[in-house]
Amino acid sequence: MIDQFTIDKIYEAAEIVDVISDFVSLKRKGINYVGLCPFHNEKTPSFTVSPSKGIYKCFGCGKGGNSVNFIMEHENLSYYEALRFLAKKYNIEIHEKEETQEDKEKKDERENLLVVTSFASKFFHDTLLNSNEGQNIGLSYLHERGIRDDMIEKFQIGYSPEKKDALTEYAISKGYKREYLVKSGLTIEKNNQYFDRFSHRIIFPIHSIGGQVIGFGGRSIKTTKEIAKYLNSPDSDIYHKSFILYGIFQAKKAIVQNDKCFLTEGYTDVISFHQAGIENVVASSGTSLTSEQIRLIKRFTNNITIVYDGDQAGIKAAIRGIDMVLEEGMNVKVVLLPDGEDPDSFSRKNAASEVIKFINENETDFILFKTRLLISEAQKDPIKKATLITDIVHSLAVIPDQIVRSIYIKECSGLLQVSEQILYAEINRQRRKILENKYKTPLPSEQIQIKEVLQPLQIIKNYDCTLHEKEIIRLLLNYGNYIIFEGFDVEGKDKWIMTVSQYIISELMKDEIEFKDPIFKRIFEEYTRFYFNDSEMANEYFIRHSDKEINAVAADLLSKRYTLSKKLFQRNNSNVAIETEETKLSELVPSVVLDFKNRKILSLLNELNTQLLKAQEDNDEMKIMELQSQIQNLNEIKKNLAESLGYRTILP
Ligand code: CTP
Ligand code: MN
Repeated sequence: MIDQFTIDKIYEAAEIVDVISDFVSLKRKGINYVGLCPFHNEKTPSFTVSPSKGIYKCFGCGKGGNSVNFIMEHENLSYYEALRFLAKKYNIEIHEKEETQEDKEKKDERENLLVVTSFASKFFHDTLLNSNEGQNIGLSYLHERGIRDDMIEKFQIGYSPEKKDALTEYAISKGYKREYLVKSGLTIEKNNQYFDRFSHRIIFPIHSIGGQVIGFGGRSIKTTKEIAKYLNSPDSDIYHKSFILYGIFQAKKAIVQNDKCFLTEGYTDVISFHQAGIENVVASSGTSLTSEQIRLIKRFTNNITIVYDGDQAGIKAAIRGIDMVLEEGMNVKVVLLPDGEDPDSFSRKNAASEVIKFINENETDFILFKTRLLISEAQKDPIKKATLITDIVHSLAVIPDQIVRSIYIKECSGLLQVSEQILYAEINRQRRKILENKYKTPLPSEQIQIKEVLQPLQIIKNYDCTLHEKEIIRLLLNYGNYIIFEGFDVEGKDKWIMTVSQYIISELMKDEIEFKDPIFKRIFEEYTRFYFNDSEMANEYFIRHSDKEINAVAADLLSKRYTLSKKLFQRNNSNVAIETEETKLSELVPSVVLDFKNRKILSLLNELNTQLLKAQEDNDEMKIMELQSQIQNLNEIKKNLAESLGYRTILP
């Protein structure tokens, strides 16, 4: 720990122009200095240093900060490492902060573990290269697999002898404590006897970002069913499997240079890519990706390309966990290798240039990849389309950048043939869920939602619901913010509310009901985007809308508060009194929405039944099946509607 006094001294000494001049040639321009940005490729300087403010900022790539940040970024160092770096440059003696006993013990513990893992790594590597057994078994295995000596050196690959306690015994004879051998997982205790965990295996040391050996992967020489192909170090004070990626130490420089990181599955994938000259590659080592691992990559680049086997398992693996990467705001691409090839086999069969060519030609944006993949699956199974949309919507919803999101929404809307408005509405709903989860506030709309899964319907072409549509828009504009339901969550702690707009938007979206009238449709679409803001603002917005038709309709609907409702929706036994419309919203709104849905569904059923007759005439088996399942879907919704409508008769 560096004490605050020393930290202050380092900041004082590390004059920004002086620090950056070691790496960038700076020219004076007015009160500032400019140069070519070291963090991205540029021909005209947009990298600016302000000596008065003590900061740098690149107007090309957006990076910026103070002198310590610069060193962290440029040298890929942690905060304290950067401080030490600068202390050295300015000959500042580092006063370590007084450590507590606990700090000290933890640190000693880690240091003792690191000493043992470093010793073991050297032992394994040395045994591979210099012992008879190592050469005959280990080295010949590696050579047979086509792994070159320079890679064995670079990754410090080793060999652990067949003898059950070769490492343990040797380490103890050299004075290393058994306690740390056990704690690091290299030695296993069983009935007071001590064995090597990795005996008779090829050893892949796992390095920290800084290059220290923190754990090991051991591959069995022969693959039989009885023994695991790979063994890995257990988690310890120095090794946390879910926090590290294999190869990050060897890859970090290339990741920064290429502004991109390839993600593979295994040790041999990383090594073979390096051997082919592709050095910006890491492996998740067979586990599913964690957010800590993603942030590790994010320290060096925002672009990640997943390279997986083209078989079913590979595709599944490529999709799993990726929403997490999107959530970090990273750009994700996917490359599927030809079926049966993993990055290791593929890069050994093909010349490096061909591997790179293949990647460049086959790299696909993750969202589009997933969308196309799911579409092709759903084509075989129309019922799947519902879950498909939910699935993609989830991936879209986690993307933090609104602009990026809207570009995807446009593209996916085209691919899925679902309107942008519906995607927006559902994404917004999911985003709200995500935010609510994050901030631990209640989820009002959840209490009432009947169906979680979207059941997309085709959009009705010729059916007149204009009056209903108009009524819904009228209710939205006049009462969007009015609360129609409220209550407490299951535990009775948190109160939730549901407004008119929440109700209408979620209900219509759930069944993918679209407006037909172009003006109402546009108002609804634009209103949906106001959903999270104040919908009172929406009124102003529509009244002043640049489109004359829209502002005329809005003005009209806002001035005629009561009339339409009465005409259209007089309930059987309770007359919704004109004067009390506001107090009856909790009945009126659901009733209008249900009537509207009902109409749409009935007319769609009609249409589908006509199509079904035609398909039966044509003997079109596929079409018949598809239509039947759509009809079944609709009937399901109709049934739910009937329940919601109570004893009101459903009339076409
Ligand atoms: N893995 C593991 N334990 C296993 C199997 C696999 O930890 N029993 C991890 C390893 O990190 C391995 C990765 O998952 O590198 C991918 O597994 P796999 O594709 O089976 O291994 P390869 O890397 O292809 O190894 P090899 O080519 O030596 O078979
Ligand atoms: Mn393999």
